[in-house]
Amino acid sequence: MELAPVWRNRLIALALAAVLLLGFGGYQGYNLLLRRDFVNYTSLADQFKYGSIGNEDDEGIPYWLWLVLPRVFSDKLPGAGGYASLGMTWEPGHEVPVGISKQTIGFPRVGINCAICHTATFRTTPDQPPVIVPGGPSSKLDSLAYLRFLWSAAADERFTADYLMPSMEYVHKFGWLEKQLYRYLVIPLTRDKILKQAQEFAWTAQQPIWGAGRIDPMNRIKFKVLGLPIDHTAGNSDMTPLWNMQQHKGFAYHWDGLQTSLHEAVISGAFGNGATKKSLPLANLAKIEEFIDQVQPPAYPAAIDRTLVTKGEPIFQANCATCHAFGGAQTGQVLNSDTDPQRLTVWSQAAADAYNAFGNSETWDLQKFRKTAGYVSPSLDGIWLRAPYLHNGSVPTLTDLLAKPINRPTTFYRGYDLYDADRLGFVTTGAAAKKGTPYDTKISGNSNQGHLYGTDLSPDQKQALLEYLKTL
Ligand code: HEC
Ligand code: HEC
Repeated sequence: MELAPVWRNRLIALALAAVLLLGFGGYQGYNLLLRRDFVNYTSLADQFKYGSIGNEDDEGIPYWLWLVLPRVFSDKLPGAGGYASLGMTWEPGHEVPVGISKQTIGFPRVGINCAICHTATFRTTPDQPPVIVPGGPSSKLDSLAYLRFLWSAAADERFTADYLMPSMEYVHKFGWLEKQLYRYLVIPLTRDKILKQAQEFAWTAQQPIWGAGRIDPMNRIKFKVLGLPIDHTAGNSDMTPLWNMQQHKGFAYHWDGLQTSLHEAVISGAFGNGATKKSLPLANLAKIEEFIDQVQPPAYPAAIDRTLVTKGEPIFQANCATCHAFGGAQTGQVLNSDTDPQRLTVWSQAAADAYNAFGNSETWDLQKFRKTAGYVSPSLDGIWLRAPYLHNGSVPTLTDLLAKPINRPTTFYRGYDLYDADRLGFVTTGAAAKKGTPYDTKISGNSNQGHLYGTDLSPDQKQALLEYLKTL
């Protein structure tokens, strides 16, 4: 009987793996397939930007393959520049962008980490390289577009060893055994894994686009980690900053305050992004927690008018402080909110119960998930760099947030990190901004209504308040 080619390949791969592991190449085979060598960074910031959160076993992509994919499948990317076109940022001298961890499990693999979403960038002139702010919210990363790029590449008939190996050999010199391993095992298995992931994420096809700087944060956890049924909810939310967390003690975490322990929010951040109970790297996560406790938002990068600030401060105290100042009676608490309610539909008591039971008897047992009925009123530290605003990122600038909802922009572009010092947010119109992703407030979950605080102030008062907000 003729074996179908796919089965023949699998058999060759199996035989090869057996030879590698048991036979003459026992030691070498172990090295090539299983040896774990994870980097420990001396600085907490580097650990945050490049360290592992434990997803390389399950979702890691072989580094040499990952490196050539944007070149081989450039037709599947939104623009030039490889992974940068999806909103990733490379620091000079690094092998991977910020937020990508490169670790060895047998062979070098890459996975995402917290910093891919929780690192902000900004520029004050179009031609300067971006200032990178670990711990800030990414306004650029289009994480669904990254996943779709991988899914679409894996589904392409060109995703074969024959087609990919020449490009990979151009960037890396493979030994003979290593080459066989990639050809018969690593590339086919990676393809299968990515396609399986695409199926697991099939629910995203029905969702409004996430776009730059937003994700649907809880559904993946519900369906994949907790095994709850697909429920067709969508709750796209804006990335949050993870800075100055020491001062946020006692706050509720996540936009809807579904968690009251930072420690648990950090651990679930790893599960939500591909770590498993077996791979959960508690020591690394402890370093991340230490880092985000301490790291401070950057100072506003341009001149501040101190006279105006003095006028703005009492306006803030009178209109905003109870909900937004550190020490304010309602700061960090879940409040009834008249902003878009869609995000609240994705989390349920059943999901909270399931997550609280998920780690029972583990050392990292999670107990503080809950269901709420409103949004957290956050402290405003580093608010100048947290645009677009509100939980769904529906209001591009602080100036727009102080405008009556009817006067707020209804369509704009997200993902361009040039700072708009006149309106306090990012530039959202014009040719360069249009390389980002469109945002339409008419789409379900995208409403820019509500949060009327400050909208009745006079133009002078607003100007003074905005000047004060630059100092937070
Ligand atoms: C793919 C993007 C992404 C990745 C990766 C990611 N996060 Fe988040 N994170 C978000 C978004 C978006 C939110 C807001 C979600 C919501 O509540 O709607 C968030 C919220 C949080 C919060 C709540 C912050 C607050 O003040 O309310 C914490 C804490 C957090 N993440 C920690 C982590 C940690 C730690 C990691 C890595 C182990 C991580 N996240 C990885 C996107 C991400
Ligand atoms: C009664 C409580 C309350 C008052 C008063 C209040 N806010 Fe808010 N604010 C909230 C809540 C709740 C949210 C979150 C809403 C959401 O994300 O949908 C919020 C969100 C925000 C955000 C968005 C934060 C981000 O990271 O996107 C900004 C900026 C803000 N408020 C500024 C102000 C200013 C300025 C004032 C005073 C003029 C003010 N707020 C008054 C409750 C309040």
